Amino acid sequence: MTDNDTIEQRIEHEVYDRLCHVIDPELGRSVTDLGMIPEVRVSPSDETDNGYEVTVHVELTVPGCPLSKTISTRIQEAVRSYPGSALTPRIEIGAMSSEKLKRLVGELKAERRENPFNKPGTKTRIFAIASGKGGVGKSSVTANLAATFSALGYDTAVIDADIYGFSLPALFGINTRPTDLNGMLMPVVAWGVKMISIGMFAGSDRAILWRGPRLQRSLEQFLADVWWGSPDVLLLDLAPGTGDMAISVAQALPNAELVIVTTPQPSASDVAVRSGLVALQVPMNVRGVVENMSYYDYNNERLRIFGEGGGQRVADQLTEALGFDVPLLAQLPLQPEIREIGESGRPAVLTRDGKLEANSLADSFKTLALDLMYNQDRRNPKSTVAN
Ligand SMILES: Nc1ncnc2c1ncn2[C@@H]1O[C@H](COP(=O)(O)OP(=O)(O)OP(=O)(O)O)[C@@H](O)[C@H]1O
Ligand SMILES: [Mg+2]
Repeated sequence: MTDNDTIEQRIEHEVYDRLCHVIDPELGRSVTDLGMIPEVRVSPSDETDNGYEVTVHVELTVPGCPLSKTISTRIQEAVRSYPGSALTPRIEIGAMSSEKLKRLVGELKAERRENPFNKPGTKTRIFAIASGKGGVGKSSVTANLAATFSALGYDTAVIDADIYGFSLPALFGINTRPTDLNGMLMPVVAWGVKMISIGMFAGSDRAILWRGPRLQRSLEQFLADVWWGSPDVLLLDLAPGTGDMAISVAQALPNAELVIVTTPQPSASDVAVRSGLVALQVPMNVRGVVENMSYYDYNNERLRIFGEGGGQRVADQLTEALGFDVPLLAQLPLQPEIREIGESGRPAVLTRDGKLEANSLADSFKTLALDLMYNQDRRNPKSTVAN
């Protein structure tokens, strides 16, 4: 900007500066950084004295992008927030040329390199939710925990790594596909959570994603081919079982912390212990145990429908076998709403408008979420937070 600028030119520069704070909801970067704003034009308004009309030309990365309305609204708000003069925004929406888009995706990919979560200094905490047996509530715990993190203000991402038995898209009411940006996939956002799941792809695309040794490969693709930004938390919903998947996670994401879900009865807890013993084969922090369906409150009585003690048993046995503390992190109730509301496409801890419910279930998940965030990896004493 120079002293000779006209008032229109000054407003153009200043509006452009304001647009630096408008974030593209998919890429998590400012629209100006992404080269989405080729032009801002200011002219005196015909309608108001001292007012100006501001035309912002926007180039979307994806033509007809479902989020274009959100982007327009954010730009309009940024223009209207300009102090002093009355500015009337006009948004012209176009699409990026394929050349420009290719360049942008190339830059983003180069910057992100292979796997964004293993960079030194990455802030993302990674929790892999595992179980020995199927059907103990891993996906329900993952979904509600992710929703809780997001409602608490954490930038939250989830990988549905259960490629055979994926269930997270349904629990989040997702029936859209990830946007494909020249070979880079945008996670689908629902209830504030960024998610990717094999269940979001139609049959033929699934075949593409499943080439090669499936488990390892699909996880690598989810890590490398999806634009994650740098979330505060990444949760992985693993397939049930005692080995392969957790080993793949440990190899692809050395910072991942394993959280083991079990129900209280011995048949579940015995096999849950084995799923945690994977840490004897590969270096992996086993962060703790979550006991699900621990009790059912009925008529002021706490009924232990599936018995008692499984979670604590798993925690004790893993602590002994692994030589570091593996605590019982939470005991979650058996509560029909978890299934009913979950099946309707909303994690049960959330209200319809996406806030954390004010009830004991949401409180339990909140305590679990905060405990996970604030207690660091205790395998390595140097990373322990002093208290
Ligand atoms: N605490 C709970 N209270 C009531 N129902 C629950 C609870 N946790 C899970 N469920 C229900 O139990 C069933 C199994 O849960 P979920 O699918 O989360 O388990 P999973 O361990 O992911 O299973 P899979 O091994 O098949 O992936 C679902 O119908 C779910 O709604
Ligand atoms: Mg599941």
